[in-house]
Amino acid sequence: MPGKGEENGWQGTRQGRKGFRVKAVVCTRYGPPEVLRVEDVPMPVSRRNQVSIRVAATAMTSSDCYVRGLNLPARYRVAARLAVGLTRPRRRILGMVLAGEVVSAGADATAFGPCDQVFGLDRHAFGTYAEYVCWPQDTVLAAMPAGLTHEEAAAIPYGGLLALHFLRRAGVRGGQRVAAYGASGAVGTSAVQLARHVGADVTGVCSGANLELVRSLGAATVIDYTAEDFTEPAALRRHLRRSRETQERSRPPAGPPGAGPRRDLHLGRRRNTEAARQRPDPAEGAGRPWPCELPLSAALVSGS
Ligand SMILES: NC(=O)c1ccc[n+]([C@@H]2O[C@H](COP(=O)([O-])OP(=O)(O)OC[C@H]3O[C@@H](n4cnc5c(N)ncnc54)[C@H](OP(=O)(O)O)[C@@H]3O)[C@@H](O)[C@H]2O)c1
Repeated sequence: MPGKGEENGWQGTRQGRKGFRVKAVVCTRYGPPEVLRVEDVPMPVSRRNQVSIRVAATAMTSSDCYVRGLNLPARYRVAARLAVGLTRPRRRILGMVLAGEVVSAGADATAFGPCDQVFGLDRHAFGTYAEYVCWPQDTVLAAMPAGLTHEEAAAIPYGGLLALHFLRRAGVRGGQRVAAYGASGAVGTSAVQLARHVGADVTGVCSGANLELVRSLGAATVIDYTAEDFTEPAALRRHLRRSRETQERSRPPAGPPGAGPRRDLHLGRRRNTEAARQRPDPAEGAGRPWPCELPLSAALVSGS
């Protein structure tokens, strides 16, 4: 019976197999999803600082769709073609997110070894719509948390890192009201959960079909953008009022007899003063700490 790593023909090789072919989804021209084709391509060969990874799951992200379809406003198209390829995508194999197993590591790539389960994102390398990929070990790559499936892990880095970056940058913390516009997407679902994690009161905007999903992720208020224009001042005021009412309802009941409203107010003021003195830097989040084991790559969001 073959050992772990042996079944794919990797046992005993550190640099991959030249001439060995693997399956990949390739994109040879710009267009709708139909331009994608499954092909046999040469197996990638890792360099000294790279790890070879057998891709178990990837994510089809909105960035992949932009590169494949180049479906952008006219004013961005020339710049986009210069960046990703004049007449067709320069990188034939798209995909920047993966979860999978390390099958070999180059001589200088000591952070990971064969059989390590990893997940991550590389905005520049692409190539994860394939059975194997070689990535530098210092890209956004980390050991997969125990208990996650590959599919679950692959769903995290793209939206999760972007949402985490901007929520941190905005200094979102407990007690604040946060609106996630596009709350049912890759970035939005992460933003809703992360904002809830630090105790913010979240309003999610998405289509009617996804309202329940967004509510189940922790949004106190949900808005269907197909039914009303969230950006209209009247709608905004209505939702802020609803959100305030939800907050009021979820407040703990009044204290024991004797602790009347005036006393509550007074104690509350003292507690607030105390809390203000102890309040950590808003950028750190005032409630629970921001969760993140992956190194947050500034490059990841530099195009935002
Ligand atoms: N610069 C960067 O590095 C970077 C990286 C990642 C993403 N982004 C951008 O961030 C945005 C979100 O990305 P994503 O990956 O989360 O996209 P996604 O998964 O496609 O999600 C799109 C979200 O927008 C909602 N939506 C669609 N049409 C809408 C409308 N007319 N009004 C309000 N909401 C609408 C969708 O709701 P329903 O599905 O319920 O209709 C969904 O929640 C995209 O614009 C993407 O280009 C930028």
